[in-house]
Amino acid sequence: MTTEQPFTWSDRFLLGHNTIDTTHAEFVECVGALLNARDAEIPGALDAFIHHAEAHFQQENDWLSAPDFPGGGECHIEEHEKVLNSAYDVREVVAQGRFDVARAYAQALVDWFPGHADYMDSALATWLVKRSHNGRPLVFRRMEAA
Ligand SMILES: [Fe+2]
Ligand SMILES: [Fe+2]
Repeated sequence: MTTEQPFTWSDRFLLGHNTIDTTHAEFVECVGALLNARDAEIPGALDAFIHHAEAHFQQENDWLSAPDFPGGGECHIEEHEKVLNSAYDVREVVAQGRFDVARAYAQALVDWFPGHADYMDSALATWLVKRSHNGRPLVFRRMEAA
């Protein structure tokens, strides 16, 4: 019997960058599904999480690798790598029927995500928002006649 534990999206996770926020809502959904999956659903839920995490982390890694990113990106990329490598290890153990390991992994992700989002993804989101506004406040001007 599994005990249902909620891991649901909350506005406290919002970082103010649309793509990151949408991706993070999907992360929460995938982890919540894995956390509450029945044994038979675990392999599928884990594959869905891995599919999500590969794209999620690759997108962030691409931004972090931009030549104008102000530094500190290596640590962030390394954290993604650790989480993904653990997921691959868990997949191997799950294939041997150890479903409890997948639930423990999902719980570790629940514990990991808020800190990662607050300290690492928020810095990335702030930089992306600033860059998209070219570092200047948004100003609306009349179109100049050609
Ligand atoms: Fe993220
Ligand atoms: Fe991240």
